[in-house]
Amino acid sequence: MLALGFERSAVFALCDAATGVLVGAAGLHIDRTHRRAELGYWIGRAWRRRGLATEATRAVLNHAFGALGLERVFASHFPWNPVSGRVLTAIGMRPEGRLRGHYVKDGQRVDAEIYGILREEPVGEDPSEEGRT
Ligand SMILES: CC(C)(COP(=O)(O)OP(=O)(O)OC[C@H]1O[C@@H](n2cnc3c(N)ncnc32)[C@H](O)[C@@H]1OP(=O)(O)O)[C@@H](O)C(=O)NCCC(=O)NCCS
Repeated sequence: MLALGFERSAVFALCDAATGVLVGAAGLHIDRTHRRAELGYWIGRAWRRRGLATEATRAVLNHAFGALGLERVFASHFPWNPVSGRVLTAIGMRPEGRLRGHYVKDGQRVDAEIYGILREEPVGEDPSEEGRT
């Protein structure tokens, strides 16, 4: 991942290692006062279902609780996007409920499904790391 970090954001471009082509992005919008950040991510259609979102968001979480010293990371998705929730639970984030009418999309209120993780809670394991010491 290539860091495009800012004072209040840390956004990483996800690029194909062989070609350098941009395949997605993952990053944090940081609130330093409360030492928390909101996690966001997307993967280009042609690159989905290869574990890239899970791998990238896991790395971003480790960065948040490591180098950035944050206490909490949260994320949300629209109710019709359960795949996004699957990514979040795979990296150890817990469902925390639904915020009613949290967004306005196409002129309509839309609920947000909220997930969160605190720094002492385990980030979901990378299966490729299993058996390593
Ligand atoms: C949500 C999104 C980031 C997932 O990216 P991805 O790289 O395909 O996700 P992964 O390959 O890491 O898959 C994560 C899990 O979701 C499952 N999954 C992914 N796409 C799926 C689909 N279309 N249908 C069913 N399951 C799916 C995977 O099987 C995997 O489950 P597992 O952990 O049980 O094996 C991608 O679809 C996307 O960019 N969507 C649009 C933007 C978006 O929703 N961003 C999220 C913020 S709201």
